[in-house]
Amino acid sequence: MPETTDTGPAEPLLEVTGLRKSFVTKRDVFGRAVAREDAVRGVSFALPRGRTLGIVGETGAGKSTVGRLVLRLAEPDAGSVRLLGEDVLALGRRDLRRLRRRAQMIFQDPFASLDPRMLVGQTIGEPLLLHAGLKGAARTARIVELLGRVGLPAGTADRYPHEFSGGQLQRVAIARALASEPDLIVCDEPVAALDVSVQAQVLNLLLDLQAERGLSYLFISHDLSLVRSFAHEVAVMNHGEIVESGPGTELFDRPQHPYTKELVSAIPVTRPGRRRSTADRRAAALVVPAAPEPPVVRPVLSHALEGDPS
Ligand SMILES: Nc1ncnc2c1ncn2[C@@H]1O[C@H](COP(=O)(O)OP(=O)(O)O)[C@@H](O)[C@H]1O
Ligand SMILES: [Mg+2]
Repeated sequence: MPETTDTGPAEPLLEVTGLRKSFVTKRDVFGRAVAREDAVRGVSFALPRGRTLGIVGETGAGKSTVGRLVLRLAEPDAGSVRLLGEDVLALGRRDLRRLRRRAQMIFQDPFASLDPRMLVGQTIGEPLLLHAGLKGAARTARIVELLGRVGLPAGTADRYPHEFSGGQLQRVAIARALASEPDLIVCDEPVAALDVSVQAQVLNLLLDLQAERGLSYLFISHDLSLVRSFAHEVAVMNHGEIVESGPGTELFDRPQHPYTKELVSAIPVTRPGRRRSTADRRAAALVVPAAPEPPVVRPVLSHALEGDPS
């Protein structure tokens, strides 16, 4: 008889199997679907606790759809999503709301994702009230604490989104996500809209928070060099499928799939003596030599900051 133990191999925080989603691209005059497009065509992956899985691929590959399906912001056609030991697709409304608290999302454009009519303090305070029931002085104190954690002064709470830069506002979005004390954050192109120097700052903040709180990230990006240094594991998506996956450095040093090879060869290479373009500098700053753990990129990212006037 097999021995049973309580301490088997830890279940991954998130496990996705055979996920599929198609969208109607054309309807007839009666509103019936006449053409569909497969956006996600059988995607499977596992994300262990405290780790980062990068999903990389070109625009239209299906990356954002995967992120939305995982949090059930869109309904999959087929497949399964297990998050924190629960079958996400089987949950009713109330249970889904409870689970969502532990799985947050950060988007590319914080100007679009934050309510422009709400003070920053309200934006961060909303989940504190909803999830933790915090009110009054306790809530204010927690808002200030969260702002401080993302590097923003307390006074930020009394201002509106339009008064901030993209980088500052992305920090607000991170503080709002942290307010519900999540285990997972789906980061969908979180720095794509930011200045190069600010990108490194926001990435460093995400790395610090991960080390501090054991957060898991599903990190979606079209930027290969960025994902390589930020994620523990990388999955390459093309036309709705994961064509190759593995540890970031390995995947980039020895790509197997033709599509991955194509992507890797498109990363700008810096040649000595040539004037470096912004893209080159950024790639050089973010692509680091093979390292067992991503925190090693930290000094490299900070170094990039010093060289780049903000
Ligand atoms: N809500 C939607 N309605 C119709 N088509 C969609 C919708 N969301 C995404 N798509 C289509 O699915 C494909 C994958 O999109 P997306 O997941 O946004 O890709 P990525 O994030 O990799 O750029 C694209 O062709 C896109 O046009
Ligand atoms: Mg996208």
